[in-house]
Amino acid sequence: MSFDRTLKIAPSILSADFANFGAECEAIEAQGADWVHVDVMDGQFVPNITFGPATCAAIRPHIRGIMDVHLMITPVDPFVDAFAQAGADVITAHVEAGPHIHRTLQAIRGAGAKAGVALNPGTPASAVEYLLDMVDLVCVMTVNPGFGGQKFIHSQIDKVRQLRAMIGDRPVHIEIDGGVDPVTAPLVAQAGADVLVAGSAVFRGGSVGQPQVYGDNIKAIRAAATGTYV
Ligand code: DX5
Ligand code: ZN
Repeated sequence: MSFDRTLKIAPSILSADFANFGAECEAIEAQGADWVHVDVMDGQFVPNITFGPATCAAIRPHIRGIMDVHLMITPVDPFVDAFAQAGADVITAHVEAGPHIHRTLQAIRGAGAKAGVALNPGTPASAVEYLLDMVDLVCVMTVNPGFGGQKFIHSQIDKVRQLRAMIGDRPVHIEIDGGVDPVTAPLVAQAGADVLVAGSAVFRGGSVGQPQVYGDNIKAIRAAATGTYV
């Protein structure tokens, strides 16, 4: 997994057909997805439950590219190895998920995965200041985690700008998660984000039987986001 800052679209399978994850992952990759974003929720850190490492392992053979696992769980550390063994390329933990995020990030890299740190909307950019040399990705939540289809929180754009300046030349991605669509994508791309997670805006209107809709949705987000650079 080499580093570059070209814009990447990471559809979240939280908005996919849960009975058909394998085919859904294959469909979004065939339709232009760069990464596949996998939302793990425990009903404790967030008020919703999705699935765990066994499902990630089952999905893995259906993803050719990057499997980007977003852990919305607490505690994190006892499960890091299981998600790494399930084939996660990136494992992202929340800075709010426990008292020892530094140790958690060490454990993620120690397990052989890329390490991501996520910030809830109420958490300032400064929370990751002393973590930037030990992460591969900072995820800025632009909704409160737990559910797809929520409204983008505009105050987070300034946080993205701050993080971009803090990161400087470090090979660290800035990922945006929540409420990304063709209207909000250019706002965060312009502020310095390079990985855009999108659930409802990618899966809306499509299915494994109508996968070209996914492709059109991905293209619309990418065009809107990259158009800001011209
Ligand atoms: C929210 C999840 C997101 C979510 C995004 O807790 O982490 O990945 O699926 O969904 P949309 O794009 O619909 O806001
Ligand atoms: Zn997510």
